[in-house]
Amino acid sequence: MKVMAFNGSPRKKWNTATLLEKALEGTSSQGAETNLIHLYDLNYKGCISCFACKTKGGESYGRCAVKDDLATVFKHIEEADAIILGSPIYLGTVSGEMRSFMERLMFQYMTYTDPPQSLFPKKIHTGFIYTMGAPEDQMKERGYAQHLGINEMLLQMIFGSSESLFCFDTYQFKDYSKVVASLFDPEKKAKRRKEIFPMDCEKAFEMGVRLAGKDIG
Ligand SMILES: Cc1cc2nc3c(=O)[nH]c(=O)nc-3n(C[C@H](O)[C@H](O)[C@H](O)COP(=O)(O)O)c2cc1C
Repeated sequence: MKVMAFNGSPRKKWNTATLLEKALEGTSSQGAETNLIHLYDLNYKGCISCFACKTKGGESYGRCAVKDDLATVFKHIEEADAIILGSPIYLGTVSGEMRSFMERLMFQYMTYTDPPQSLFPKKIHTGFIYTMGAPEDQMKERGYAQHLGINEMLLQMIFGSSESLFCFDTYQFKDYSKVVASLFDPEKKAKRRKEIFPMDCEKAFEMGVRLAGKDIG
């Protein structure tokens, strides 16, 4: 079994990356071969609206025709048994790199039909890990849940299965005393990092175990 994870944070060792690593540990505990890709290392842009993936009888029907770093990534995804996306919340949604990746990943497989259909060649498990500075109640107040729920729905439609994990109130700066950020209480942040983040890591591990579960295709 092959599992790929995609880090949509520019930081390779912080909250999102750590949770993705834990999720991958969960999958490898079930025997999976894993690969963590940092999106910020790749050269690509979002969908360019060329519609090669939608062109009747076209060479690239159901496949993104753009030849950049994502072309190889998409080939590997078609060979994977599960994928895990991870992103920090930036200005109320996923990071720009993750958004561009999602456009390219998902649009190629979606048909403009009623009902919409998936051209992804098989069914695989998918997971999405979100990390954010906001506490859980603010996520609800700001309407993130409703908006991010669409990602779960799209992933489910295209790949067959999807689940989401939210990690709130993350520890954001190496040294809170060096930044202008009076909104945050550094002690509370450190306490949460020490006490709650390890539980989030466990949840990510368990997600990995589930995603490496039995074949759904
Ligand atoms: C550009 C930028 C925008 C952000 N916007 C939000 C936001 O809208 N809501 C929120 O809850 N956190 C926001 N944050 C905080 C990050 O989502 C949070 O610190 C996240 O856990 C960072 O992930 P990382 O540690 O993996 O880089 C923002 C951070 C940055 C750098």
